Amino acid sequence: MSVPSPAAVVVLAAGEGTRMKSKTPKVLHEISGRSLVGHVVAAARELDPQHLVVVVGHASEQVTAHLSGGDVPVRTAYQAEQNGTGHAVRMGLEELGGVVEGTVVVVCGDTPLLSGETLAALAATHTADSNAVTVLTAEVPDATGYGRIVRDAATGAVTQIVEHKDATVAQRGIREINSGVFAFDGRLLSDALGKVRTDNSQGEEYLTDVLSILREAGHRVGASVAGDHREILGINNRLQLAEARRLLNERLLERAMLAGVTVVDPASTLIDVTVTYERDAVVHPGTQLLGATHLAEDAEVGPNARLRDTVVRAGARVDNTVADGAEVGPGATVGPFAYLRPGTRLGAGSKAGTYVEMKNATIGEGTKVPHLSYVGDATIGDHTNIGAASVFVNYDGVAKHHTTIGSHCRTGSDNMFVAPVTVGDGVYTAAGSVITKDVPAGSLAVARGQQRNIEGWVARKRPGSAAAQAAQAAVEEAGGES
Ligand code: UD1
Ligand code: CA
Repeated sequence: MSVPSPAAVVVLAAGEGTRMKSKTPKVLHEISGRSLVGHVVAAARELDPQHLVVVVGHASEQVTAHLSGGDVPVRTAYQAEQNGTGHAVRMGLEELGGVVEGTVVVVCGDTPLLSGETLAALAATHTADSNAVTVLTAEVPDATGYGRIVRDAATGAVTQIVEHKDATVAQRGIREINSGVFAFDGRLLSDALGKVRTDNSQGEEYLTDVLSILREAGHRVGASVAGDHREILGINNRLQLAEARRLLNERLLERAMLAGVTVVDPASTLIDVTVTYERDAVVHPGTQLLGATHLAEDAEVGPNARLRDTVVRAGARVDNTVADGAEVGPGATVGPFAYLRPGTRLGAGSKAGTYVEMKNATIGEGTKVPHLSYVGDATIGDHTNIGAASVFVNYDGVAKHHTTIGSHCRTGSDNMFVAPVTVGDGVYTAAGSVITKDVPAGSLAVARGQQRNIEGWVARKRPGSAAAQAAQAAVEEAGGES
């Protein structure tokens, strides 16, 4: 649908949200990797408005800091006292110079499921019908708490919006509610806001009164009924927060599946709104895909993977793993039970196996770290194998140091690489070595104590013990004497 961009979108986010019972302002609570107000701002941006302003008030410094932190900073208006939604819109318009010519869209900061398409459809209806105001409504199963849409019995035209607290018993029976989303003619909106009174149960300036004010002045008032009432769910408490998270997660997984991703068990899979993917990626149960995570074609993750800001390249396999800020190269395998921390770069066909932790480490093509190891602050070349139970000893108690290991190395099990240290190409190291000195290419490094066997020690020092008896039996079996 091609609609002219609105002149402005005003997002209302000054309220405290007392029903959240939280020290965090309501609009900063998160679902699916974005704050509530962040979701609303993202939907508003899809309209490409000339101006976008968020009205802040309660905990304004915190909310403003949050909004200026994103890629595209958002303009804010300050509402010192929360005197109602009408007052909040006035503050927003003041920030934009008072009167805005053209269409002004108003949305609440606590309706995170609202899509850009729904906003665009509302703006399109508003323009096509040449309305002074168009309200987005929905039929809901339980209208408690919402403003009710009152329609003329004969014509069906919307006559007013009555807040739940101000509604008569009969009006409370109405199930069509105000979503809190409107498109207005900017000039008429400013005029009408000047006429809004506060003689209601909450003593506030209600934005909803603008509708009847415009209608009584003879202007066209329209309503657009949302196709899916769940989209306008307003978050007032933590139950609604969890419900919104579930619905949004479902929507995001549906999108992924329709794009060709296999999600084995949507009910146990979480995905953030910022996650991207390619077709034929497979997500096994119990998996969380967070932040800027990307799954390339044929990547297979889970079960039980928690991936944040992690890129899984084509055909890679990540099983029972926690990864944060890592890159898993094409065809690489990770886990089960690996922990990849920021700065881990796994090359093509490489491996970070079971009980392996990595941090700030670049692992070359085909290189394997199969078992029980910590690789921190390291660069490893191609086609090297790191023996089981190796530790890259990167910390001397004061500073972190780097270890470099070459290509085609075979390091023994239980090696300590005490950084800073460099191991050349084609090196072998003996099991149990503590490598403290650089190893030249092609060498075998042995760095461990020599073994001594003190024969007969058990018979002398532990006579009569089970160990002594077992040793005696072994000697007799072999035909010897003790
Ligand atoms: C509002 C509507 C109601 C609608 C419902 C939809 C009014 C009077 N009521 O009621 O008809 O059904 O939303 O969810 O408009 N806010 C400010 N400043 C204020 C007051 C509110 O910025 O002075 C912001 C809040 O932060 C919130 C939004 O406006 O994001 C809505 O406020 P809220 O108190 O949640 O209104 P509701 O009672 O839900
Ligand atoms: Ca609300």
